[in-house]
Amino acid sequence: MTILDGKKTSNDIKEEIADHVKSMVSKGERVPHLAAILVGSDGASMTYVNAKVKACKLVGFNSTLVELPEYTSEEDLLKKINELNTDDNIDGFIVQLPLPKQIDEQKVLMAVNPNKDVDGFHPTNVGKMALSLPTFLPATPYGILELLERYQVETSGKNVVVMGRSHIVGRPMSILMSQKRKAGDATVTVVHSRSKNLLEITKKADIIVAAIGISEFLTGDMVKDDVVIIDVGITRVPDATKKNGYRLAGDVHFESVSKKASYITPVPGGVGPMTIAMLLKNTLLAREKHII
Ligand code: GUN
Repeated sequence: MTILDGKKTSNDIKEEIADHVKSMVSKGERVPHLAAILVGSDGASMTYVNAKVKACKLVGFNSTLVELPEYTSEEDLLKKINELNTDDNIDGFIVQLPLPKQIDEQKVLMAVNPNKDVDGFHPTNVGKMALSLPTFLPATPYGILELLERYQVETSGKNVVVMGRSHIVGRPMSILMSQKRKAGDATVTVVHSRSKNLLEITKKADIIVAAIGISEFLTGDMVKDDVVIIDVGITRVPDATKKNGYRLAGDVHFESVSKKASYITPVPGGVGPMTIAMLLKNTLLAREKHII
């Protein structure tokens, strides 16, 4: 069994990006600048956004964190987005999700200039992604493709089961892995909360991408020998033995599934760090206008 080490791989990618930034600096070019908007003070969102800002510093990018209060109106958020859309010093930006309930998420994502949409969430970019046109790939699926590629996991002709159909992970993952591409050419099945005979489907999978948000849902009895496991889930599970009162668990029951798997991502240290590395990669692409 091989651990797909997202922490190490993301560090490799960040080093590659940092080298690139150094060469930009030596040529007197402006370095990439990522902005992130965080509305409210959700604990997990704050952790993710702070990690993104920290990663920018590490590779030599400029970063701006825009923190807005929980009660921010949709109108005020749209105004802020428009400021970033028209600020020539900002190459790309993200609006951290989820948003408070008074704000229409779809309206917000539609307001982001697609050329600065380094999350790849704008319908224009989702459409381009689905058509295999150059665009910003959403960071989590992009990170998974990169991890599979760098570990040379064969995907061509394999049965891939994507668990979950979210706009951020499951849906794009299923589209990307069915495409003619590196870490693609797979036969993809998407399962979700209404799927029947789940066990029959997961048992036939060569590769499983678990992105349903239910901690330790996928257990060893649900998979075949030598399965490749990508665990996207990250949930705080109460744990009295921990100082902070919780531990982080994925969607996969690691102990039982890892006994059967040929490759598996750990939680934490698997998909999470890859997401951040690919956001940086998208920001570099935005700076160099490789997409438009
Ligand atoms: N919330 C959970 N994942 C993501 C992500 O990749 N981007 C943003 N903006 N918000 C998220």
